[in-house]
Amino acid sequence: MSTIPASPLAFSDSPLVRIMKQPFLLGLFLPIQSGGWSPSSLPRSTSWDFDYNARLTQRAEALGFDLAFGLAQWMGKGGTGGEIRFREQSLDPFITATALATITQRIILISTIHVLYGPWHPLYLAKFGATIDHISGGRWGLNVVTGFVPSEARMFGNEQIDHDRRYEMATEFTEMMKALWASPENLTLEGRHWRLMDAFVTPKPRYGRPLLVNATGSPAGIAYAAKHSDLVFITSPGGGHVDAAIAALPKHNTEIKAQAKAFGREVRTIINPMIVCRSTEKEAREYYDSIVAAADVEAIEGFVGRRASGDAKGWRTDLGAYRAVGGNMQIVGSPAQVVEWFLQLKQAGCDGVQLTFFDFAADLDFFGQEVLPLMIQAGLRNHDA
Ligand SMILES: Cc1cc2nc3c(=O)[nH]c(=O)nc-3n(C[C@H](O)[C@H](O)[C@H](O)COP(=O)(O)O)c2cc1C
Repeated sequence: MSTIPASPLAFSDSPLVRIMKQPFLLGLFLPIQSGGWSPSSLPRSTSWDFDYNARLTQRAEALGFDLAFGLAQWMGKGGTGGEIRFREQSLDPFITATALATITQRIILISTIHVLYGPWHPLYLAKFGATIDHISGGRWGLNVVTGFVPSEARMFGNEQIDHDRRYEMATEFTEMMKALWASPENLTLEGRHWRLMDAFVTPKPRYGRPLLVNATGSPAGIAYAAKHSDLVFITSPGGGHVDAAIAALPKHNTEIKAQAKAFGREVRTIINPMIVCRSTEKEAREYYDSIVAAADVEAIEGFVGRRASGDAKGWRTDLGAYRAVGGNMQIVGSPAQVVEWFLQLKQAGCDGVQLTFFDFAADLDFFGQEVLPLMIQAGLRNHDA
């Protein structure tokens, strides 16, 4: 496509450049869907509602977190089922991020959007994205997902598109948005899937374009990331147990970064651990066991079945106790142990973590008080970046 916007990395005052000064990126995965990541009925504060997530985001910002981000899922009635009706309720992450932008100052806000569902057109998303980019002062990022669950495509009245073709379409979609963000003139483009005739987008984004992100494990998704993403949310090719993840990640991270380098680009990889942390390992394990003891087995089966119905290539499905707690990988232990695992993730080539918790407000507070100071001591975080 004709025009390419500058990367936010090219602007010394962009939020992306600011967070890159941190040795290890820190993000919060917001629980804007009921049950968060844990199909367990153990009582907790976690809620999908806006006020709860607004307070979490403000707390994360006060603690110096770099990003907050929300997923997008299209669930039928009852969610994945069980007594807790896991994930039946959810907020849209795009509208949520726009609202969060008005009550925060520094934290980067990332919305997941299924760019191939329904009526999206690159012109719409380029316009909406430029608008939230201005509302947030360049703090908005788009997590491009293509939808791996067939029932979601059917909700929009369509059959699921073949995996690699989805990435081919996402590439065209992204290139058209980029051209619209960059072009000083009306633009006419004829793509294979979308066309523009004398199209023009204002306002132009503050720092070239919004941050671009994708979440992937497949060769096609990594090829997309190498060309377009600033951040890639990765999963562990070795499954969710932390030692297996750390063994598998160095090769994975090296390959992703090498592919980006071949295009003269840099990408950062971020992984998503569930943190179960208490003052001692014993207490953390007891906390973990109490979450598992209240597992909602039907909700877990529904969740696993839903995931298995899809074609995501990078995920290994861990079952049993693991699933009741959830997350792409799990870190359980004392504050010092958590920081030790973070150091190992960094050594394995991960540029940061984006955290999930069981009882978000309480566990985030504990993390801020007990883990963050140790991260600073270990050189993983700067106070004043
Ligand atoms: C941290 C993370 C967040 C994700 N969030 C979403 C999401 O909100 N909605 C969605 O449909 N898929 C989401 N995915 C799934 C990805 O879009 C993708 O389908 C999956 O990682 C498999 O990648 P692949 O299809 O390239 O193999 C997420 C994946 C990761 C690792």
